[in-house]
Amino acid sequence: MKFEIITLFPDYFTLSLQQSLIGKAVEKKLFEIEIVNLRDYATDKHRTVDDTPFGGGGGMVLKVEPLDRCLNALGYTRKGKQPAPDSKQRIILTSAAGVPFTQERAIQYSLLERITIVCGHYLGVDERIVQLYDVDEVSIGDYVLTGGEPAAAVMVDAIARLIPQVLGNIGSALDDSYMNQILGTPCYTRPAVYDGVEVPSELMSGNHEEIKRYRRKAAIQKCLQYRPDLVEKADLTDEEIAEVERLRRKNNT
Ligand code: ADE
Repeated sequence: MKFEIITLFPDYFTLSLQQSLIGKAVEKKLFEIEIVNLRDYATDKHRTVDDTPFGGGGGMVLKVEPLDRCLNALGYTRKGKQPAPDSKQRIILTSAAGVPFTQERAIQYSLLERITIVCGHYLGVDERIVQLYDVDEVSIGDYVLTGGEPAAAVMVDAIARLIPQVLGNIGSALDDSYMNQILGTPCYTRPAVYDGVEVPSELMSGNHEEIKRYRRKAAIQKCLQYRPDLVEKADLTDEEIAEVERLRRKNNT
């Protein structure tokens, strides 16, 4: 898998993607990340990449020409001339107005061979880039960032950790929050008692069935508290549905 990140701020990524498990996975060549400076595709002496919006209003818009040249140089072809829709590469444009980035979307992207992320900036990107190329406009949440770089870093992290061998233990990805439409279970480590606060006895029992049951129950409980909308959609056993009902009655919700 190769990620390409097209940005006006290459330095944003020099440290952030060299850390922790992602940095180690890059070192081990489990996937590649190439940072592409959009300014390298400007042709005037000021290396202009943005301009004021037609129709007025504040802010600046990323121009279509440098982006078009950049995508072309990376080997992408225009819509209609694209490889088959089952192609193993995607262009993602970070945008507050895009489709939500979810765990499901991260899983789909992790199966690709190449992902090119265009970091939107300023007011946005000239819409013609979306008209000219097959692009997924993707948002990481219902809030507005100053630029797409944090969104690109979030997406690379969430996708890359699903690539085989990036996480030492694949079990950790399977236990993820959202993986089964339910938030992750609360976890604890040593000491067993801290300032009088104890780790739940089930986790100390050594009984794998009991631990598994407790973890699932605690995850549902937490999910009900923070994301009741997810509980509605979750795949629950009869026993778990009864537990949700019991908790709802207890919490009067
Ligand atoms: N650019 C600005 N806000 C964004 C968001 N929420 N997600 C992705 N890109 C963005």
